Amino acid sequence: MSGQHHAQRHAHTQPHDHTQPHDHTKPYDHTHPDWDAMSEAIERRAEVYGPLYTQVLDALREQLQPQLPSASAPRRIVDAGSGPGVLTCRLAETFPEAEVIAVDSAEGLLKRTMARAANAGLDARVRTQLAELPDGLADLGTADLLWLSHSLHHFGDQRAALADCARTLNPGGTLVLVEGGLNARYLPRDIGIGRPGLQSRLDAAHEDTFTEMREALPDAKADPEDWPALLTSAGLRHTATRSYLLDLPAPLSSDALTHITETLTRYRDSLADRLDPEDLTTLNRLLDPADPASLRRRPDVFLLSAQTVHTAVKA
Ligand SMILES: C[S@@+](CC[C@H](N)C(=O)[O-])C[C@H]1O[C@@H](n2cnc3c(N)ncnc32)[C@H](O)[C@@H]1O
Repeated sequence: MSGQHHAQRHAHTQPHDHTQPHDHTKPYDHTHPDWDAMSEAIERRAEVYGPLYTQVLDALREQLQPQLPSASAPRRIVDAGSGPGVLTCRLAETFPEAEVIAVDSAEGLLKRTMARAANAGLDARVRTQLAELPDGLADLGTADLLWLSHSLHHFGDQRAALADCARTLNPGGTLVLVEGGLNARYLPRDIGIGRPGLQSRLDAAHEDTFTEMREALPDAKADPEDWPALLTSAGLRHTATRSYLLDLPAPLSSDALTHITETLTRYRDSLADRLDPEDLTTLNRLLDPADPASLRRRPDVFLLSAQTVHTAVKA
């Protein structure tokens, strides 16, 4: 891109200083997430990703109940690191004969889970347990299905945690591990403002904060994230690894746009000092509702993402 063209891309009339992160009363601390403060955003993400989880749960139901629906249906499901319970409730809907126990260390999120379950008429089969995982698994009793969605990476020793999970499973029980996939894409490579390729650079910076988050965990252990190998080392038989696509083209629903705004706001708050000033300016413009180039006003925002799901069975 020529220097002149480059400069034109920056020309805009907004009075704000877009290189400065906005004033937030509580800055986002990526090494110690405030789960209760993030409850709405986690809930919205799981809802927006609903069509993807429908595919995951349909495949899981087929895998667990190939012939006789009720004979092999899981009766006791543990959702470990359940957050606000969107997926807890989806699990209860998918397996109508099961009791589903949502386990989390954030009390506020468990309250949200029970409210959600009551709203959906699932509260007779959904219950919650406040516990610090993985230690808390020992007090939970056994499970036919153990669901870990975006929670294992918050446990310092993932290998040891998977071994604890394996002990929690009944013989023949299944562990579902939702980890990995492709980083979501929201915007074209060239969005007409700033240097093209912003999202790839945000992803690269985010990878570093993710590593720092893991290093700050109690009992942190670095282990290559070969999930099938870790499941095998926990004594389980790895049965499948599949990735599922979420493909929401522009124009997006208001909820999907809010989800993307929340994600990019969190990125801005945690990555501001790692981004070059030009990228920070672009990010601030995308997040400034008064800017004509902002997420809310532009027609080209989409959501494309792939989520990988690993399953393993206890002999
Ligand atoms: C990213 S959220 C995922 C929520 C949900 N599973 C989902 O996929 O939407 C991670 C959740 O793990 C919980 N968590 C993190 N560390 C935990 C720990 N050591 N013990 C129990 N829960 C934990 C957090 O409170 C949060 O609710």
